[in-house]
Amino acid sequence: MTALYEKYRPSSIDEYMGHSDIVQSIKHIIRKPSCASCFLFFGSKGTGKTTLARIFFKMLNCDGRCTGCEKCTKSSDLREIDSSRYRHIDKVEKIVEEFYYRPIFSFYKLYIFDEAHALSVYSFNALLNVIDKVPSYIKIIFITTRIDRIPDTICSRCVVYRFVPFDNMRIYKYIRSVAYREGIDIKKENIKTIVKYAKGDIREALNRLESFLVSSDLPDILKAKDIYKMIMFIYKKKLTSLRKVLYRISDKVIDYRDVLSDMLDMINRLIYRYRYISLGRIRGWVIKEINYTRTLHPSFYWFAAFLFSLYGKQKSSKR
Ligand SMILES: Nc1ncnc2c1ncn2[C@@H]1O[C@H](COP(=O)(O)OP(=O)(O)O)[C@@H](O)[C@H]1O
Ligand SMILES: [Mg+2]
Repeated sequence: MTALYEKYRPSSIDEYMGHSDIVQSIKHIIRKPSCASCFLFFGSKGTGKTTLARIFFKMLNCDGRCTGCEKCTKSSDLREIDSSRYRHIDKVEKIVEEFYYRPIFSFYKLYIFDEAHALSVYSFNALLNVIDKVPSYIKIIFITTRIDRIPDTICSRCVVYRFVPFDNMRIYKYIRSVAYREGIDIKKENIKTIVKYAKGDIREALNRLESFLVSSDLPDILKAKDIYKMIMFIYKKKLTSLRKVLYRISDKVIDYRDVLSDMLDMINRLIYRYRYISLGRIRGWVIKEINYTRTLHPSFYWFAAFLFSLYGKQKSSKR
């Protein structure tokens, strides 16, 4: 069975959602006779970099919408390179030699260096020597999630595009439409949870939707009750109890930063609830809590204690 994210990978520019500024810019650039040869796509994972690079090939050789012509479906002129396997200079030199062979079926040959940060210094240097003077039928796209690991000398020779994470509303609508097309009966709340944990990464959102499809549950979602319990145990310095909760939820947690971000979310909501209380009073609580938790780890425990104090006050105000 194909994974949902592969099944729904856009294959034409019309299906490609968002990043309209990048799409417009590419459309504009590739029509120019003096089009640049090198491009750099960077941004966090699941933001559509690889997908757009593949569509780029179609845009170069056809109109970007076609799904069947020889110019854009024959893969021999599109080379997708797993950079981690091209750390050795000999391999990169072989690719450089290929640059001098004209495309067979298409107007342009496209080389996509995916995860380009995995290339070695030697590989980058070998490319650096040629990318300024590649034949006009060669286009190169470097893709990376780690722009800091791409040499400046390469960056400065590329047209650089930054892929920002998709906004939550867009992912929400997209997941809702995919769920509908797949016939998945899923509640609004569950879609919201999927979106929240995806953090702008569509692949992650589709993977979570897929796990829901399989089990009708969102297994790795932490319950607010557990978050609260952990905070309370930290506050009361009941570390054995804390460890028990952590052990119980350990199979649900993929990334422990989610636990912290859930705490921060809770704090945000509580602060919003307390927006009418004077800042002076909040400051008073904070100072009190800092004094109390001075011995604990400063950043984490401070937040936990602060949250606990707000939560306690909220409870007593309800009575
Ligand atoms: N613009 C988009 N519109 C719709 N789906 C997208 C888009 N970009 C990415 N996706 C979905 O996300 C998945 C991962 O995209 P990909 O391009 O591989 O991300 P990246 O290379 O940035 O990690 C794709 O298989 C596709 O299902
Ligand atoms: Mg990718």
